[in-house]
This record gives sequence, structure tokens and C-alpha cells, in this order.
Amino acid sequence: MSRRAAARRVVVVGGAGLVFVVGLMQLVPYGWTKTNPPVTADAPWPDAESEAIARESCYSCHSNETDWPAYSYLAPMSWLVRRDVDRGREELNFSEWGERSDAGDAADEVEDGAMPPRQYTVIHRGARLTEDEARVLATALERMDDEGG
Ligand code: HEC
Repeated sequence: MSRRAAARRVVVVGGAGLVFVVGLMQLVPYGWTKTNPPVTADAPWPDAESEAIARESCYSCHSNETDWPAYSYLAPMSWLVRRDVDRGREELNFSEWGERSDAGDAADEVEDGAMPPRQYTVIHRGARLTEDEARVLATALERMDDEGG
């Protein structure tokens, strides 16, 4: 076999192997279900602007109104998305306010630039908070905290 034919064979066999492995990954049920449970208590946003910012930057992981992206249907991305949403909802859920809420903690995360997570804003550029947006959101969350959220 010529060197070129051998190289081609490696590419073809490797490619087929990759397709096969990705295909197998789709059989793992984790990440199949994309649930949006009912909204039991909407967070009491003090104004429409802060709510819009939170919906854009936080609700995908911290609410029951997740906008599941197309790539969340393909393993292994589906596993990562599912894990983020499960853990995010557990920490803070703007749709189950009172039960899963700590507005003061959320304000701190925004002020520290810790949320939304970087691996998310790399893909979802619109979710990145500008300085102004971070200020508006943190102020609203602090107000909700003062009012007992
Ligand atoms: C891509 C999903 C995702 C987005 C978007 C996101 N978060 Fe999170 N958040 C998580 C995950 C996962 C955790 C739990 C693990 C951790 O702390 O990193 C978390 C944890 C938190 C916590 C608890 C932190 C702690 O350790 O006490 C707060 C508060 C929070 N997020 C607020 C926010 C706010 C506010 C926004 C929007 C500005 C936001 N998050 C956007 C995924 C997300």
C-alpha cells in the first residue's frame, strides 16, 4: 500500500470510529429529557429592565423557563447542559421564588462577575453582562433581598 493510501485509510477508519462513538453517546438517556416544570412563584422583579436582563443572562439555568438550545439535543453537549441546569436550578430558581432564592447571594455573584459562567457567555454572547447591566441587575437583586427574597 502506498503511503498516501495508508494515510487515507487512517482518516476513513478514524472518521467512522468517531461517528460510531458519537452515535453510541446518543443512547445514554441522561440529557434526553428537557423539562420545564411549572412556574410556582415568579421572582418579584422591581422593574422590567432588570427582569429582562435576568431572563437573558440567568434564566436558562436558574428558572423553569429554560430555552433549551439546539446543541443540547446532541451528546455529549446535552450532558453538560443538563448538568448546568440541574445544579443551577438547585442553587437558585427564579421560578420557585421563596423556596430557592437568595437574592443577596445572587447580587454578590453578579458583582463579582462570577455569574453567568464564562463557558456559557463564550457561546451565548448576548448573555454577557455589560457593566451597566450588571449594576442594574445587582441593584434589583439587592432590593429584592431587602424585601425578603
Ligand atoms: C449556564 C448556566 C448558568 C447561567 C446562565 C447562570 N448560572 Fe448561576 N449557577 C450555575 C451553576 C451550574 C451553579 C452551581 C455551581 C456553581 O456554583 O458554579 C450556579 C450557581 C449560582 C449561585 C449560587 C452560587 C453559590 O455558590 O452560592 C448563584 C447565586 C447564581 N448562580 C446566580 C446566577 C445569576 C444571578 C445569573 C445571571 C446573571 C446566573 N447565575 C447565570 C449555572 C448558571
